[in-house]
Amino acid sequence: NSVYQKGLQYQRPPFTFKPLEWEALASQRMSAESAGYVTGNAGTGETARKNREAFGKWSIVPKRLVKASGEGFPDLSVTGLRTCAGNVAGGEKGDKRLPFPIACAPVGVQRIFNPEGEMAAAAAAAKSHVPYIMSTASSTSIEDVAKANGDGERWFQLYWPPNERQDITKSILSRVEKAGFSALFVTLDTYILGWRPSDMDNGYNPFLRSDQIGVAIGMTDPVFRATFKEKHGCEVEDDMGAAVAEWTRTVFPGMSHTWEDIKFLQEHWKGPIVLKGIQTVEDAQQAVAAGVQGIVVSNHGGRQTDGGNSSLGVLPRIVDAVGEQLDIFFDSGIRCGADIAKALALGAKCCLIGRPYVYGLALGGEEGVAHVLKSMLGDLELTLHLAGIPSSSPEHLNRSVLVKESD
Ligand code: FNR
Repeated sequence: NSVYQKGLQYQRPPFTFKPLEWEALASQRMSAESAGYVTGNAGTGETARKNREAFGKWSIVPKRLVKASGEGFPDLSVTGLRTCAGNVAGGEKGDKRLPFPIACAPVGVQRIFNPEGEMAAAAAAAKSHVPYIMSTASSTSIEDVAKANGDGERWFQLYWPPNERQDITKSILSRVEKAGFSALFVTLDTYILGWRPSDMDNGYNPFLRSDQIGVAIGMTDPVFRATFKEKHGCEVEDDMGAAVAEWTRTVFPGMSHTWEDIKFLQEHWKGPIVLKGIQTVEDAQQAVAAGVQGIVVSNHGGRQTDGGNSSLGVLPRIVDAVGEQLDIFFDSGIRCGADIAKALALGAKCCLIGRPYVYGLALGGEEGVAHVLKSMLGDLELTLHLAGIPSSSPEHLNRSVLVKESD
């Protein structure tokens, strides 16, 4: 809406506003390894393809002669999220609002896309009033990301060490709490990395790079460092090969947890907990029974299981089953404002933006990430406006604004 408010003073953007061109442009700016890592998917790419195709099965039907409320542009804020800062586990829904219904999805090793990496992305998110979810696989320490994010809303994504390493889980959680992260997103679909042909073709694993930037959180963790020294008789820096291997095994421990283990996290994390990677009604119901505050309906952008379902396809069933009891976040395949509108209309409260902001980071650092977030929000706002929907709240944006195209 800023075009109308400022008059037609178009400024040249740092790169195109066309979201489907960002991937190709960004790939030209990165090394083949980095491009392969971010654009790559599991196996034949079938799950990722279905993620995108699923959006085309729903269409937004515009309503006419709807009177606008407020200033005349749709209200994009999200209210009543249990998962926001200031809310505590088990408490009532907070009255804290997010100004926009999106957040930056957790994405690891961002320094392979731009030297400023997570610092640039976290700063851009804060300036754009969009929550930043920091990955356990970040290439920057927890404390430095918090500093770059300033007084922005920040959440932390956990790759969950096995029960034998609860000492490390506790250490990470206490660092995260001290650094002002207000919610914990626990990723359940990546206890081991998927079969990713692009990375294998390039002989590339970002976590095992010789500069070790994929293991920043481990290498800066006092408990990991102390226990490593005890076991190996030297500092992590003296045997980086062993340290990287041990950290990688710690955060990708294989099938080692059960639903029972959620209690441990609840004992050691007072804020809201969100389980990321839920794709079935049964697991969503288990999440309710476990007493967590939210879930992310996600298949990791199709990077983990090949031959899987689209994430959007399972969203409505999960919303119908547990939408009243949990905050439902959604990701996998979102590329533009209309995609966000459809996921919200199907019952998600907030969408995580994944690859698009990483392309922004590669194309223009902090400014590039801000450009992507601004583009997606501007596009969303006008899409809702033109569809005659005065707000992104479920009261106005629900399934009545969509029609299902025939298969
Ligand atoms: C991811 N994703 C991810 N998720 C997570 O929980 N922890 C992580 O460290 C990462 N790292 C990561 C790296 C890269 C390069 C990508 C592309 C993705 C998954 C991410 O949070 C989100 O689920 C997907 O990106 C959503 O799919 P689309 O929209 O990007 O296709």
